This record gives sequence, C-alpha cells and structure tokens, in this order.
Amino acid sequence: MAEGNGARLRLNPYNDWVEREGLIVHEGLACDLLTAETKFWPRLGVNGAAVHLRGRGDFSNLFLIDIPPGKSTEPIRHLYEEVVYVVEGRGSTQIEFADGRTHSFEWQPRSMFAIPLNAKYRLHNGDGKNRAILGTVTSMPLMMKIFHNDSFIFENTHFFEDRIGKDTHYNGSGDLTMIRPGSNIWETNFVPDLGSIELHTWNERGAGSSNLMFILADSNMHAHVSQIQAGTYKKAHRHGAGRHVFTVTGKGYSLLWYEGEAEWERVDWRPGVVFPPVENQFHQHFVTSQEPSRYMAAGTSNQRYPLTEAARVNSGTDAAQGAVARSVKDGGGQIEYEDQDPRIHALWLEEMHKNGVTPQFDKYETAPKVLTAAG
Ligand SMILES: [Fe+2]
Repeated sequence: MAEGNGARLRLNPYNDWVEREGLIVHEGLACDLLTAETKFWPRLGVNGAAVHLRGRGDFSNLFLIDIPPGKSTEPIRHLYEEVVYVVEGRGSTQIEFADGRTHSFEWQPRSMFAIPLNAKYRLHNGDGKNRAILGTVTSMPLMMKIFHNDSFIFENTHFFEDRIGKDTHYNGSGDLTMIRPGSNIWETNFVPDLGSIELHTWNERGAGSSNLMFILADSNMHAHVSQIQAGTYKKAHRHGAGRHVFTVTGKGYSLLWYEGEAEWERVDWRPGVVFPPVENQFHQHFVTSQEPSRYMAAGTSNQRYPLTEAARVNSGTDAAQGAVARSVKDGGGQIEYEDQDPRIHALWLEEMHKNGVTPQFDKYETAPKVLTAAG
C-alpha cells in the first residue's frame, strides 16, 4: 500500500500480485495443507491458495495447489524457482523446453520435484476420483520484489538451456556427492519418495539423526530431508528464516522460542502440516510416533548458490563452519542436549508416556547420559 502524501513508498509488489490474482491467503505459524481452504486460481486453472507463514522470511513463499480429480494445470512458465512436494494424490508432471525437448515423470505422496527455471510445465492429477494436494515453496517474493512486472515473470521467452540437466534427473535417479555429515548432496530434479531415499548419519544434530541435502534443477532453492529416530528428539538450533518444514512420515511436535523466553510456542505436526521456524527462533523437533519421522525443509538459498555471505559461510564444506550444528557456546546456533532447559526433556517424557512410546536414547552411543538415565 502506498503511503506518505500519495508518494509510492514501502510497496510490496509480491503481496500486490497475490491480491490481483485473487488468491486466498493463509497466515499463522503453521498450516495444514490437507484442510486449508482453496479456490479456483485462473492462472493455473485449478484450485490454489497462498500460504504466508510467519517464518517465511523475505525471499520465499508457499503455494497450495489443489488439483481436482482428473484435472490438469494450464501450461505455465515463470522466472521464479520452486520445490514442489506432493502431500496427497497421484499424477504426473510434463515439462517442455523452448527447443522442443520434453521430460515427464509420475509422482505420488512424498514425491518432490523442481521445475527448471522458465521451462513450460503442466501438472496432471492422474486419479479420476481423488484430488491431488501439492505444496510448492518458491522464490516468487524475491523475484516480484525485484522486477514488479507480471509479464516479465510469466511471459519471458528466455531459454535457460543450462538448467535442463541430465535425463537421469527426471527418472528418479540423481548424483550423490559425499562431503561430510549434514552436507551430503543429492543432485536431481525429481525424487519419487522422500520416505525411502537413503539418508546419511548426522549425529551432531541429534542421537541417531540422519539427513540428505538436495540441489534441485541447478536452482538456488534449498531442500533437505532429515530423519529423527522413534523415541528420540533432535537438538534445538536456530538459523535464518524461510525454511518451510513439511512432515513426510511419522508425527510429533516442535517447540519454538527466542533466546531468553521462558515459554515456548508449540506446533503439533503430521503429514500435511508445514511450518517455517521464524528467523533466529530456536526450534526443536520431537517424534511421538512409534516409527521414525522424516521431514523435508525447503526455502531459497542453498549450498551451491548461497544468497547471502552469511549463508555461504554457514554452508561451508569445512565442518568447523557449519554453524547450524555447532554449540551456541562455541559461537554456533545449536543448544546441546546437556545445555537445554530441563523442562524440555520432562515434557518429552510426558509425551512418550501419553503416546505409549518407549524412549530410545540408550540405543545411541552419541546420546549423553543426562538423556539415557532419565529415559
Ligand atoms: Fe532448523
């Protein structure tokens, strides 16, 4: 909105665009994509909504795409990048490049894919009886704030030939680069099932914890998957905004707080729920299901193309630079188990009891005595 004696100041071209599109906007700390309201979105030709959560930051957003049974999205291309996660439903994606080359793949719940920049694509719901629900984290806010011009974003004919990538990146395969725990990278465009892709141990983030980072479509979008073992929880940490966390398998809860706060905010999660931890808010994830839980986090800025100098330093390949898994006592962003507020473990024990889950920290050598003794 303009203000200041009619001067056009403090504009947010992205929010103005969302209004022009006529999208429903969901706000708050978290959103359940399986129950959130959608309505017809003419640009896509299916139902949708914008999801503007408190921790989204300045560069990222989330669109909810709701494709009715048997329907398809209109062909679309755009100058923003996106990571698409399939919450519910089965279907396919067809991608067509300016030189006529095409790629297609079939998705199901827990699939993730990325569309190469400005490639034309359609999403098809292949199920004649059930809707498909997809959550897509995009860099649209960043791009619209820079260009504030709809036709430049949606009708640009530039062919980013260097973004096509290998054929194998569209058939469920990819390329693994092992660097260090927490920084092992799978490069691809399409992951058929985030619930079954092989992860690699990252005990520094929690007992039995494992992880895989992604580079998708050579974009600057971040995505990673982490697994928390049943009967355990991760260590608290904090970092920049915009990492939208989707539950892939299992269920649990997260606590969020700013340094020095006596009370937490709490998000209970299960498949369908998304929340981005707020900038510099400590957050800690706890599993309450009998089985391990996986989550996927997506936002802008990744290890290949960090958007800021701080992100470049924090994604360094030298373990000493990885601040997300280094104790706050050593200048990092993580609270070690032995340094956490004792009420956190007490609450978790109550949750274990309530859910009939046996604490499992004693299975992991890396768990400190303070947890195994109490558990
Ligand atoms: Fe985090």
